[in-house]
Amino acid sequence: MDVTVIGSGYVGLVVGACLAETGNQVVCADIDESKIRMLNQGQVPIYEPGLDRLVERNLGEGRLQFTTDVDQAVKHGQVVFIAVGTPPGEDGAADLQHVLNVAGTIGRNMTDGMIVITKSTVPVGTAGKVRAEIERHTDLRFHVCSNPEFLKEGAAIDDFMRPDRVVCGIESDDPRSSLEELFGPFVRSGNPLIFMDIASAELTKYAANAMLAARISFMNQLASLCEASGADVTQVRKGIGSDPRIGRSFLYAGAGYGGSCFPKDVRALILTGDEFGVDLSILREVHAANERQKTLLGRKVKGRFGDDLSGMRFGIWGLAFKPETDDMREAPALTLIDELLGAGGSVIAHDPVAQEVARKLHLGEQVDFADDEYEACRDADALIVVTEWLQYRRPDWKRIESTMKQKIVFDGRNLFEPWQMRRNGFEYYPVGREQVR
Ligand SMILES: NC(=O)c1ccc[n+]([C@@H]2O[C@H](COP(=O)([O-])OP(=O)(O)OC[C@H]3O[C@@H](n4cnc5c(N)ncnc54)[C@H](O)[C@@H]3O)[C@@H](O)[C@H]2O)c1
Repeated sequence: MDVTVIGSGYVGLVVGACLAETGNQVVCADIDESKIRMLNQGQVPIYEPGLDRLVERNLGEGRLQFTTDVDQAVKHGQVVFIAVGTPPGEDGAADLQHVLNVAGTIGRNMTDGMIVITKSTVPVGTAGKVRAEIERHTDLRFHVCSNPEFLKEGAAIDDFMRPDRVVCGIESDDPRSSLEELFGPFVRSGNPLIFMDIASAELTKYAANAMLAARISFMNQLASLCEASGADVTQVRKGIGSDPRIGRSFLYAGAGYGGSCFPKDVRALILTGDEFGVDLSILREVHAANERQKTLLGRKVKGRFGDDLSGMRFGIWGLAFKPETDDMREAPALTLIDELLGAGGSVIAHDPVAQEVARKLHLGEQVDFADDEYEACRDADALIVVTEWLQYRRPDWKRIESTMKQKIVFDGRNLFEPWQMRRNGFEYYPVGREQVR
C-alpha cells in the first residue's frame, strides 16, 4: 500500500519504519529540515532502541523515503497518517494547530478515496474538525479515521509490531478492509483489531493514559502513607499486584511521572470534561498529586540538609523521564534540578543517552555533565537517582564511596535495598520504605 506519514517525531518515525518493514511504500514528511536531512543520511534524530536499523534497512531497500515536501508526500498516499505533535496550549488543552494545519495541506492535495488517519492524540470531536478543514479545500470523497497510538518510548518498535490491540475509529465500514490490510500483519497472533466509532476511539487513548497515570499517583500517595506508618510500598505493590484484577504494571512509587504523554493527556482530558460539563475530579487529583510528587526528591534533600544548599554539590543519575529514551519532556529531573539550583546547590548529572537533549535545552549552562555515573558522584554531598536506567542498578559502592564527599543517597526509583545500603554504610532515602540514617 502507498502510505504517507506526516510528522516524523517519536511516533511518526516508528509508524513509518514499521509500515515500511511490512512491505508498504512509505513516505514520511516533516517540516523540520534538519531532521529530514539527518534521516536521509540514515541517521535517526531520536534515541529509540532498534529504530536506527529499521530506518537504515527500509531506506536502503527503497520502501521508506523522507521529505520536507508535505504537499508531494500527501499526493503519494492512499492512506495518510497525521502524526504531528499536540502539545498543551496555554490552558493545558491539546493544541490542535499542527493537526489542523496538516488537515488543510491534505485537503489541498487530496486524491479521490483517500483514507486520512489521525494518529496524534487528539480530544474527542477532533475528527469532525479535521473533516471540516479538509472539506474547505476539496470536493473529493475521503474517509477520516482515528487510530490512537499506544506505543511506549523505549519499547516503541516492539509495541507497534506486537500491539496488545489496534484501535480504529471509523465513520463508516468503507475503509475497514484497507485498515485490516494495513494493520493485519501486526495482529496475526490474535490480539484484537478493534473497530469502533470515532469519538470512542479518540477517548480511548486519553482514558488509557489517565488510568495508567492514576495508578502511579495512587501508589505515590500510598508510598507517603507507608513512610509515615512504617510499611514498605514495594511489599504492598507485590501484595496487590499479584491480584489479577489489579495486575503488576504501573504500580511503582517514585519521583512522579513525566514525558510527552501522561502529564499533557491527563490535563487535556480534565479540560475536555469541563467542556462537556463533566467534572473529572479524580483526574484533577491525579495531576495535582503528581505535581507534588515531582517535588518530593527536592523536599527530601532539603529535609536532610536544610533549605540553603549553598556550597553543596549533588550528583544526579538520570535525566530522561524514563529509561531507554532521550525524551526529557516534563521529566521529574528538571523539577529537581530547578529546586537544587534555586536553593544555591550545584549539580553534576549523568544520563546514558539524554545528555545531548539536555544540552539543547540549555541545561549545560547551569549543570555539569558527567561522562559516566561514577564521575557524577565525585565530590558530591549526595547522589540522587531519578531515572531507573539498567546500568544504575548494581553499582560499585566501594568505588562510589571513595569519591563522594558524604555517603548519602536519595533514591527516587527504589533501585536499592535499605539493608544493602546499611551494610555499605550509606545514609539512604528511598520512596515509601525504610530510610537508613
Ligand atoms: N511520544 C509518545 O510516546 C507518544 C505515544 C503515543 C501517542 N503520542 C502522540 O503522538 C503525537 C506525536 O507525538 P511525538 O512524540 O511523535 O511528537 P514529536 O514532537 O516528537 O513529533 C512531531 C513532529 O511533527 C512535526 N510537524 C509539526 N507540524 C508539522 C507539519 N505541519 N507538517 C509536517 N510535520 C509537522 C514536527 O516537526 C515534529 O517532528 C502527539 O499527539 C502525541 O501525544 C505520542
